[in-house]
Amino acid sequence: MYEYRIEVKDLNTWFGEKHVLKNITCYFEDNSVTAIMGPSGCGKSTLLRSINRLNDLIPGFRLTGQIFFAGSNIYDPDRNVYELRKRIGMVFQRPNPFPMSIRENLTFGPRLHGIKDEDELERIVEDSLRKAALWDEVRDQLDSPAVHLSGGQQQRLCIARALSVDPPVLLMDEPVSALDPISAGKIEDLIVQLKKEYTIILVTHNVQQAFRVSDQAAFLYMGELVEFDKTKRIAVAPEDPRTEAFITGRIG
Ligand SMILES: Nc1ncnc2c1ncn2[C@@H]1O[C@H](COP(=O)(O)OP(=O)(O)OP(=O)(O)O)[C@@H](O)[C@H]1O
Ligand SMILES: [Mg+2]
Repeated sequence: MYEYRIEVKDLNTWFGEKHVLKNITCYFEDNSVTAIMGPSGCGKSTLLRSINRLNDLIPGFRLTGQIFFAGSNIYDPDRNVYELRKRIGMVFQRPNPFPMSIRENLTFGPRLHGIKDEDELERIVEDSLRKAALWDEVRDQLDSPAVHLSGGQQQRLCIARALSVDPPVLLMDEPVSALDPISAGKIEDLIVQLKKEYTIILVTHNVQQAFRVSDQAAFLYMGELVEFDKTKRIAVAPEDPRTEAFITGRIG
């Protein structure tokens, strides 16, 4: 049932002396969107990046606790991090297509993971672009440089690129905050579509966006998980005064 559910248990993280995440326990269900919200510097990106071990390379980073993915702790010493990142994809705040053609952006990951068959690669290109709602706009220019696309198209390409290796989980760190409202709206719609097949964890400091697209929401404040529940409940009746202050715009 919960094959791809992620479970965070007693997570604490430090950058040097700075204790950034404090006793975080939460979980992420299949086929759902969880929004992680909170003011700048509260630890949203740190939490997200802990889930595919992107913080590991930062000097001075330290972590205690566990994050279970498909039944095992992703911080087990014998865990293959490369394989983990294939299964937990990531989309960043600024669109960062590779300086290659649209097609090559989408075949890069699959090739790296050993897919050589050209027909299969073509199928992946089309599938990923369709899932990212970009196919119709770029089908006639697959060999053009990806950086010639608009910002919103580049971000959908980055989503397609993340999907090209077929990860069950997608992490998104403020994926629309660098985009114009129309492009942002398209990506919000896309997120709602994608949750039918993926587990999506969306970092945002935009409360209205969190309420529009998420099923569950986490509110982080100064490294603490202040509130974690169904979005509907938090939206109408936040339990903690800090959550209420945040969602009504009084903090953050
Ligand atoms: N590479 C790093 N080295 C040292 N400290 C860091 C590093 N990355 C983050 N921090 C610190 O960890 C804390 C949490 O940062 P994080 O980036 O997780 O916040 P955030 O909630 O994502 O903020 P924002 O909304 O501004 O993106 C901050 O105090 C930040 O200074
Ligand atoms: Mg951040």
